[in-house]
Amino acid sequence: MEPYRIKVVEPIPITTREYRERRYAEAGYNQFNLTAEDVTIDLLSDSGTGALSAEQMAAGMRGDETYAGSRSWFRFREVAEDLTAYQHIFPVHQGRAAERILFGALLKPGQISVSNTHFDMTRANVELSGGTARDLPCPEAADLDSDAPFKGNIDLDALTALLEGPEDVGVVVMTITNNGGGGQPVSMANLEAVSTLCRKHNVPFFLDAARFAENAWLVTQREERFHGHTPREVAKLAFRLADGCVLSLKKDGIVHIGGMLALQDTELAKQCELLLIATEGFLTYGGLSGRDLDMCAQGLMEVTDPLYLRERAEATKYLADCAREAGVDSVTPTGVHGVYLNAARLLPHIPPARFTGHALASELYLAGGIRCAEVGSLYLGEIDAAGDLITPAPFELVRLAIPRRVYTRSHLEYVAETLGAIAKNPEKVPGYRLTEIPAILRPFRCRLAQVRP
Ligand code: F0G
Repeated sequence: MEPYRIKVVEPIPITTREYRERRYAEAGYNQFNLTAEDVTIDLLSDSGTGALSAEQMAAGMRGDETYAGSRSWFRFREVAEDLTAYQHIFPVHQGRAAERILFGALLKPGQISVSNTHFDMTRANVELSGGTARDLPCPEAADLDSDAPFKGNIDLDALTALLEGPEDVGVVVMTITNNGGGGQPVSMANLEAVSTLCRKHNVPFFLDAARFAENAWLVTQREERFHGHTPREVAKLAFRLADGCVLSLKKDGIVHIGGMLALQDTELAKQCELLLIATEGFLTYGGLSGRDLDMCAQGLMEVTDPLYLRERAEATKYLADCAREAGVDSVTPTGVHGVYLNAARLLPHIPPARFTGHALASELYLAGGIRCAEVGSLYLGEIDAAGDLITPAPFELVRLAIPRRVYTRSHLEYVAETLGAIAKNPEKVPGYRLTEIPAILRPFRCRLAQVRP
């Protein structure tokens, strides 16, 4: 059960199917155009959507808004240093700001950033810095149904070959957990091997540690050597294997806004400092208020609580298991921050060109007011100017991202029941075609129309 009880509640909109059909059509069948009023259960993102604890609220009240050298900054730095052991800690307003500053200072034009899988904004920031992003997921990641425990790992053979080859690798970024790759964890053995390879080849090694605590939890459960360790011990060891991290505190900081860049190298830190002051704010607040810094510090302490992590992991697995029983499969083993539904298996009559994942995500909204996002050809496929799919994505998935400490198991049962109702008559679900195709940021800005079979 949840190791907390509810002190403050917020009503959620309960709407009719008619209302949702009208609003979704007005929204151009794009869930990013829906508003809070339209959505009953919001599983679009686990980022900045968590519930604060009473201690975080209290910490916020103690926030010190001194421009330079606030008490809040020193409290935040102490917690961040203890966790990561990095010498230079920079607060930023969210994860992507940390990426922009890091890659801006670190990457030279033409250099490659290598990752198990870059998150989409991370990829965008690599490219904006003149670099090229290359993903090397491990081979086990390709089998959605296997029980391999660490499908978030990087392919070590491919990484070795790349580092020994002629190409200019500027950085290795390990995303823990692997959000683009089904929310799957990375093992400590994999991180240790990456660390050794990077030291050998003198390439900086960074963690994209947005979900560091959830990764650490799964390590304590799935990697024999770490059975009996606390998630905090594992997280600390992981940070110490890398040269630094970018960290969206909107996930495992359990705050509504916040991020951090932290690193060891003093020369690199000097360049980051310049970019930080010019684009985010002075060194002791970055893009954040004192109140935010105090809430982040408290969130970073709470998030590694094994009771909290165990319940969160079990609730996510409960949703995946209920959905599977109702006839909807998802990527296994289930991760922590989300359930990745296998839309292609449920809707074989909808080809990738009619956006299978988007079709399932849309039906979840129409049938139950549940908002979520596809991870399939609409997002990752290659699409021409006329809106036709040229190269499909490798998978047609739908991510149900679970906000932290927000929904109870009965909310999750409602999601599973809605999925079950869809699974009874999957052939009724329509496909989609693009009607407006923006040149960039397609999933956020496009509009679509339904295509009945
Ligand atoms: N890295 C990972 C692995 C992420 O999942 C995200 C954000 C970021 C970096 C960027 O952090 O949003 O604070 O700038 N992921 C959100 C999501 C948006 O829904 O998965 P940010």
